[in-house]
Amino acid sequence: MTPLLQLDSVNKAFGGLKVTQHLSFSVFPGEIAAIIGPNGAGKTTLFNQITGHLLPDSGRILFKGEDLVGLTTQAIVKKGLGRAFQVASIFPEETVLDNIRLAALANLDHTRRFWRPSAEHRQATEAAVAILASLGLEEQGGRLAFELSHGDQKLLDIGIALALQPTLLLLDEPTAGMSPEERQRTRRLIGEIRGEYDLTLVFIEHDMDMVFDIAHTVRVLQQGALLAEGSPAEIQSNEEVVKAYLGEEL
Ligand SMILES: Nc1ncnc2c1ncn2[C@@H]1O[C@H](COP(=O)(O)OP(=O)(O)OP(=O)(O)O)[C@@H](O)[C@H]1O
Ligand SMILES: [Mg+2]
Repeated sequence: MTPLLQLDSVNKAFGGLKVTQHLSFSVFPGEIAAIIGPNGAGKTTLFNQITGHLLPDSGRILFKGEDLVGLTTQAIVKKGLGRAFQVASIFPEETVLDNIRLAALANLDHTRRFWRPSAEHRQATEAAVAILASLGLEEQGGRLAFELSHGDQKLLDIGIALALQPTLLLLDEPTAGMSPEERQRTRRLIGEIRGEYDLTLVFIEHDMDMVFDIAHTVRVLQQGALLAEGSPAEIQSNEEVVKAYLGEEL
């Protein structure tokens, strides 16, 4: 099987600080891949390079076999690579429905001119309503985004990403700052949307219960380098990983 995402010796430094070091790994279609590691290990910086927010110093990032390095964030999104951010990236003054609707509208193919704008609006609204329902936010559609709880704002950010119809979804700490109940709900919803939208997932997470519960594969980053990769069971019993990271988290 061809990997959906393949990193090939990716390197990045900020001045003297090496944040990505010879990073190579592959994610296959349907996989749920976790990326873990201490604060400052370079996890978010890695996502920034995959999504075109940052340019690697060297290496290749292949998505469906095509190198993404040098493409704009918009071009990368168009190829089917979506992302939700560590700090929810939403329009706080718009309604919850409009946050997703505007993303869905932007995603419509404007070269298909025979569509009247009203039809496009209707289509975007229908897509947004369906996504809200998938996330259990259907009752919140008319509220302004800033009024949502922290947990619901994180879900809304995932909803905006879904509106862009990704094949691969990157989630940066989807349960960060959530209460235990919100974490559980988010964990369940991520499993559900993966099935419903046929997604491959790569997620960064500090909540080890979630990592070992839902991930098929786990990569451990330390100072930008891959310390270990394997199944949840392999990672949990890896002495180096336990010493470097899990000892504190578990
Ligand atoms: N634009 C930047 N310029 C300079 N240094 C940066 C920049 N962005 C990140 N860094 C540094 O790169 C390192 C990796 O940061 P990154 O945000 O990727 O860590 P992380 O693994 O996501 O951590 P956390 O778990 O706390 O979110 C940190 O030392 C950070 O301070
Ligand atoms: Mg981070």
